[in-house]
Amino acid sequence: MGDQTAIERDFFTDHELLRDPYGWLDQMRARGPVGRMDSRRDVVMVTGFAEAAAVLVDGATFSAVISAAGPTAPLPFTPAGADITAQIAENHHRFVGSESLLSYDGARHSASRMVLNRLFTPSRLKANEEYMHRLADRMATEAIARGTSETIGEIATPYVTLVIADLLGVPEEDREALFASVLTGPPPGSLDNADAGASLAPLARAMGGFFAGYITERRASPRGDVLTDLATATHPDGSLLSIEELIILAVFVFAAGQDTSAKLLGNAIRYLAENRDMQDHLRACPADIGDFIEEMLRLEGSSKVTHRLVAKDTELGGVALPAGTKLVASLAGANRDPARWDDPNAFVLHRPRIREHLAFGRGAHTCIGAPLARAEVRVMLERLLARTANFALSEAHHGPPGARRLDYEPSYIIRGLEKLYVEMQGA
Ligand code: HEM
Repeated sequence: MGDQTAIERDFFTDHELLRDPYGWLDQMRARGPVGRMDSRRDVVMVTGFAEAAAVLVDGATFSAVISAAGPTAPLPFTPAGADITAQIAENHHRFVGSESLLSYDGARHSASRMVLNRLFTPSRLKANEEYMHRLADRMATEAIARGTSETIGEIATPYVTLVIADLLGVPEEDREALFASVLTGPPPGSLDNADAGASLAPLARAMGGFFAGYITERRASPRGDVLTDLATATHPDGSLLSIEELIILAVFVFAAGQDTSAKLLGNAIRYLAENRDMQDHLRACPADIGDFIEEMLRLEGSSKVTHRLVAKDTELGGVALPAGTKLVASLAGANRDPARWDDPNAFVLHRPRIREHLAFGRGAHTCIGAPLARAEVRVMLERLLARTANFALSEAHHGPPGARRLDYEPSYIIRGLEKLYVEMQGA
């Protein structure tokens, strides 16, 4: 991206930025850690690490109300005054994606988090990890038998979908139909429909029927699974959550952990397929896979950005931000900020304090599925590495080194490959 006008590219619609968004982010950061985006958009982007972290931890100043809606759609009200907290609360329901906890602020958000925390108990995760092992081993064995595997469609996506279906307690016989419903619709942050925001409504329609049935059934005859915990969850005042609230929560958990985890797994497989030394190292020292994943999250995390609305007049990185300013917190930009990371664009295994990266966000909205995502990717990499002598990118599909053809999902939010063909040699 050497041309001087590159900075004027529109991050929300430009397909050229998909292959290497990082050079463009470096240019944005070079102008300051907090800066207005191109002249067409009334949006401020935060690319500095300290500044992005400061935004994410201060929910009173930076509202999450546009976290799902994104920053490109107009606000449903005209901001008035130095503090628009009350206006945001009054108009919350008018934002795209306002049904999901990603967009909640304050006490309402904490209450939903408490319900969801019941899903991710250590004993649940342990049982789920045993399922992951069996599934990952079977998928790796089948991929090796095929010789060449399209690892996004044949491994990553079905794997993460089946894992979360198992965690939630979705019956085996429904998993295929549920999987098909997940694949409908554009990705969040679609470049071809940037103003649409990430509404859960279509997905809730597609999947809601399943979950309504499970929840009604669990209320009538409780069992020891996650769906029973959800079905019997109560508000802080002791009242049961409505079926609609529960469907939205379950659908959101299902959706939030889909593309993100599958794409991170794809990004990690691509890196290893292209870096034989690291592949061999991890095959010999599987204990290092955890640190490998953290560095992949920093360098190639699957969520490039999230969004906040300035609720109270403030200043950040030397820039005045009046209430009503729409912010993009660039997780990918922060994770390569040279003020925080030495040699930020280099892959370094065992970087000091690597877990401080922002790939899962920070503060009250920090990804609740982070332990699950880490476990999913670790288990699949362990099985793939153990079952193979080597795997490499398919030149027939992606071209030779130096002239690779790799297509990324056309989304300004998600970072990940659409397809990834890998040639596998069994151990
Ligand atoms: C590599 C995979 C993943 C990445 C990169 C990722 C990234 C993120 C990020 C950056 C946020 C914070 C957004 C914000 O502050 O606006 C978030 C929130 C969330 N994630 Fe993930 N996620 C991943 C996997 C998962 C999985 C597997 C699940 C569920 C099982 C999940 C469920 C959630 C939920 C429920 C929230 C909302 C939390 C809240 O608003 O309080 N994520 N995720």
